[in-house]
Amino acid sequence: MSQVIAKLLEDHRRMTVLLDMLEREISHYLAGFALNHFLIETILDYLTNFPRKCHHPVENLILRRMTIRSPAHAPYLREIIAEHERLKYLLDIFITTFEQEKSGQVIRPYRLAKDIRSYMEYLRWHMEREESLFFPAAEKILFQSDWDIIETRMNDKGDPIFGREADRQYRALHKVLVDWGEK
Ligand SMILES: [Fe+2]
Repeated sequence: MSQVIAKLLEDHRRMTVLLDMLEREISHYLAGFALNHFLIETILDYLTNFPRKCHHPVENLILRRMTIRSPAHAPYLREIIAEHERLKYLLDIFITTFEQEKSGQVIRPYRLAKDIRSYMEYLRWHMEREESLFFPAAEKILFQSDWDIIETRMNDKGDPIFGREADRQYRALHKVLVDWGEK
C-alpha cells in the first residue's frame, strides 16, 4: 500500500474516533445532561480545519493525477469534490444549530442531535466510499512516479497548499481530545 493512502486511512481512523466521541456526547445530551460546549467546539475545530488544510488537498492531488492517467475518471473526481462540498454544507448546519443552542436560544435537543448526526452519517458514508472505491482505484491506476510526486509535495515544508505544520498540530490536538475522552 502506498504511504500516501496509509496516511489518508489513518486520517479517517482519527476522524472516526472523534465521531464516536461526538455520538457519546449526543446520547448524553439526549438523556438530559448539559452539552459539553468546549469539547464540541474543540472537535469542531478539528473537523472543520483538518480536512480542509491537511486531508482534502492530498485527495485532490491524487484525483488530479488519476484524471491524467485515466481521463475516464474525470466524473469520479467531480463526485468526490461534490461530496466534500456537501460535507461542508452539513457541517455548517451543525455549527449554526450548535451556536444557537450555546447562545441560549431554545433549540429542541432532537433538532440539534439530528443536525449533528446528519453530518456524522454522511461523513462515515463518504469515508467508507473513499476506502472501498476511491483508494483502491488510485492504487490501481497510479504509477510509483505519481506517488513519488504526491509525497514530495506533501513533504515540502514551503508548499502553500499542504499543511504540514497544521498536520502536526492537529495530530497533537487529536491526542489531547482522545485523552480527554478516556477520562
Ligand atoms: Fe477522505
